[in-house]
Amino acid sequence: MILEQDQNLCKIIDTYSSKDKAYWSFRGRAQRLHCHDLIHYPAMMVPEMQGELIDVFLEKVKNIQSIIDPFVGSGTTLGEALLRGLDFCGIDINPLAILACEVKSGVLYPKKLSEKSKILLKNITDDNSEEISKNFFGIDKWFTKQTQIELSIIYRSIKKEPSKWARKVFWLSLSSTVRSVCNSRSSTYKLHIKPSKDIKNTPSAILIFEKILKKNILKMIEQKQLLAKNKVLNRNKSISKVFLKNTNSSKFIKHNNKYDLLISSPPYGDNQTTVPYGQFSYLPLKWIDIKDINNFSEKNLLNNQNSIDFYSLGGSLKNALKKFELIKIKSKSLVQCVQKIHKINPNNIKKLASFIYDLDQSLNNILNLLNKNAYMIWTLGNRRISNIEVPLDKIMRELLEAKGCQYVYQIEREIPCKKMAKRNSVTKTISSESILIMRK
Ligand SMILES: C[S@@+](CC[C@H](N)C(=O)[O-])C[C@H]1O[C@@H](n2cnc3c(N)ncnc32)[C@H](O)[C@@H]1O
Repeated sequence: MILEQDQNLCKIIDTYSSKDKAYWSFRGRAQRLHCHDLIHYPAMMVPEMQGELIDVFLEKVKNIQSIIDPFVGSGTTLGEALLRGLDFCGIDINPLAILACEVKSGVLYPKKLSEKSKILLKNITDDNSEEISKNFFGIDKWFTKQTQIELSIIYRSIKKEPSKWARKVFWLSLSSTVRSVCNSRSSTYKLHIKPSKDIKNTPSAILIFEKILKKNILKMIEQKQLLAKNKVLNRNKSISKVFLKNTNSSKFIKHNNKYDLLISSPPYGDNQTTVPYGQFSYLPLKWIDIKDINNFSEKNLLNNQNSIDFYSLGGSLKNALKKFELIKIKSKSLVQCVQKIHKINPNNIKKLASFIYDLDQSLNNILNLLNKNAYMIWTLGNRRISNIEVPLDKIMRELLEAKGCQYVYQIEREIPCKKMAKRNSVTKTISSESILIMRK
C-alpha cells in the first residue's frame, strides 16, 4: 500500500519531468510574490517549486495537514503552507529568520499598518536629534556617522509604536534597510568592507526604509488577498496553526506535535565561508529590538559577528576527527569524499566531518517530530571542499537510510537564478541542486 503510494508519487513527478527536462529549474517561472518578497535571505528556495511539490503530495497522500521546515530560513515553505491552510512548524538558529517567519505568519491588518506607517514616517521626520541610540563593537566600521544618525531615528520611532505586530513589520523593513546602507559589500553575504568611494555614496537610510516599508505593505496586501482567494483567511490571519522555534536543531527540540510532511533545505555546510547566514544577519539584528522577536531564545547568538555561524551546523571544528570516527559507519559516500579531500588537504576534512556529524544529530531530532511514514523533501546543494565535490545528496540519503528511512525519488535541477551572488565563488561550486525525497 505504502509502496504503491511511493510509486504514484514518482510517476506524477516523472510526468512533469518527462514533458520538459528543465521543468524543475523553474526558469522564467520563479517570482518573489506576496510574503516571499518581505526579506531577501541567502539561499532561499523557489516558492513556486516548493508549492507545486506540496500540491503533488496533497493530491497523492491522504491526510497531510501539517508541514515542518527545520531549517526554515526566510520561510519560503511557511509562505506556501499558509496559502494551503496547512499547519506549520519552523525551526532556525538565526533570530532574523524567525522574525521574518513571525511577520509572514502574523496578523494582516494592511489598513491599520498603512495608518501606523504614516505616523511612524511623521515621527521620523520630526526627530532632528543626532543622538546615536545603539552601540556595539564595530559600529563605526560598518556604518557612517550619518547612517548611524538616520538608523537611530528610525529605531527610536519604531520603539514608539505601541503594537508589537506592527513593530515586527517595521523591524523587518529596517533589517533590509540596514543591509542596503551598511559599509559591507552587497556582492557577498560575508561582512566585507566596501571601497571608500562606495561608502561615500551610501544612500539615505530614511529614504531606503520608507521605500522598503511601502513595498512590504503592498506585499502584505497581496498575501491577504491570496489567502482570502484560497479561503484560508480567518478575519486577519491565515487559518494555519504556526509554531516557530529559534533553536539549534542539533540539540534536543522540545515539542509535542508531530508533522505530516517535511520540506527543507539545510545549509550547505559552508557557513563560515561562502554562505554565512549569521554574518548576513549580524548587522540587521544589532538595530532591531530583539525583545520583539517572540521566539528568540538563544542570547549568546548575538555576541559577535561569528556567533550564529559558530553555533550553526558544522560551525565548530572541535573534536572533528573523533566525530568522523563516530559517523563514518553511516555513510560510504562521506568516507570516499573524506579520502579524496585528505589527499589534497588533510586539514579540510574537519569541516566536512563536523558538518555531517551535526547534520546527523539534527536528523535524529527532526525525525522525532515526524509522523510515521511522513515524507521528506530535502533540497540539497553539493558544495566543493578542496575542489572536491561533496555529494550531500548521497550522504543525506545514506544517513537517513541508516536511521531506517526509505528512499523514494530524486530530482536534479539547475539553479537558473538562485540568489547566490554571481560574483562570489558559490555559483562556481553550486549551479545545480538535488531534491531528495525520502520517507520516514
Ligand atoms: C539554506 S538556508 C534555508 C533557506 C530557506 N529554505 C529559505 O527559503 O529561506 C539554511 C538555514 O539553516 C539554518 N541553520 C543552520 N544551522 C542550523 C542549526 N544548527 N539549527 C537550526 N537552523 C540552522 C540557517 O540559519 C539557515 O537559515
